[in-house]
Amino acid sequence: MRVFLTGGAGYIGSHTLLEVLSEAHEVCVYDDYSNSSPHALTRVEQLTNRKFDVVQGDILDQSGLAAALVTFKPDVVVHFAGKKAVGESVEKPLMYYENNVVGTLSLLRAMEAADCNRIVFSSSATVYGTPQYLPLDENHPLSATNPYGQTKLMVEHILRDWCGARPAATAVLLRYFNPVGAHDSGIIGEDPNDIPNNLMPFVSQVAVGRREKLQVFGNDYDTPDGTGVRDYIHVVDLAKAHAAAISFASAHTGCEAINVGTGRGSSVLDVVRAFEAASGRVVPYEVVQRRAGDVATYCALPEKARNLLGWQAKRDLADMCASAWKWQSQNPDGYKD
Ligand code: WQD
Repeated sequence: MRVFLTGGAGYIGSHTLLEVLSEAHEVCVYDDYSNSSPHALTRVEQLTNRKFDVVQGDILDQSGLAAALVTFKPDVVVHFAGKKAVGESVEKPLMYYENNVVGTLSLLRAMEAADCNRIVFSSSATVYGTPQYLPLDENHPLSATNPYGQTKLMVEHILRDWCGARPAATAVLLRYFNPVGAHDSGIIGEDPNDIPNNLMPFVSQVAVGRREKLQVFGNDYDTPDGTGVRDYIHVVDLAKAHAAAISFASAHTGCEAINVGTGRGSSVLDVVRAFEAASGRVVPYEVVQRRAGDVATYCALPEKARNLLGWQAKRDLADMCASAWKWQSQNPDGYKD
């Protein structure tokens, strides 16, 4: 198949690129490098010894996007390109609505110009809002507690309506839980701009000495050790879920939302302990007040992914931490020269 990856140089995009190339697909990456590095693409080429097309461009440049799609003629688009920091979305909501919502409309118009009817969308479990029950299945009520989550919810509705109007169309909405870790080689990985918002990259930077200590955002939640519990999923398992979604999209029409998680929860202190075991380093931390908007527990019910995609996560928290540490220790400054 011919696969077009928007945001293919990013953290999850580059791991999916590697997986898709290893399945002998023809690939084109479209990325503006606003939150990624071209070095990631060079390293994927080294790892796979496979060539692929690359177009540097903005998701909002509809004519440039249409030209790239008409030239490449993809069978399916995997849409990673978008802003993804909850806190930043509260400060800059218009940037989030423009990039994530208008950007997706720009992509869909360009896809129609190129007669491409299949999309796999990088959605997020954040569309479940505050859990009304656990584990979270795909029928859980949807809501948003911040502009970032609102953009994911809006795009899901847009894709559902797009499929409703186009009998030949397919949209697979992959609701990620908490992606962490890196490719086993340690050659590609997560390289956040500035101070990491997320737990794993922050812990990793403390372990390698880039940060002094971790702030644990509250230990008074209704969880086994009082700290927040999340469903962490290895980024390689997540990449394999995308490859399975691409196959599914080639054989089905309509719109399907699918959780991508392990079904297992780990607390903040579980992650700290697992990372110390994987790295052999101490991760100092101090408990501070809760972070606004956080909830106690988020955990997936992963049955639908197994039933529909024939996919399930295989890697555990120790694998996630070991791979994250290998990437971080081999690349203390990420992709920066
Ligand atoms: C995990 C746990 C924190 C940092 C977010 C988005 C979600 C998705 C993944 C994009 C929580 C605690 C964290 C720190 C801490 N993003 N924590 N100290 O909030 O579950 O999900 O990222 O798709 O949409 O909402 O992930 O890694 O930020 O937090 O104690 O320095 O770690 O309170 O319990 P989160 P996270």
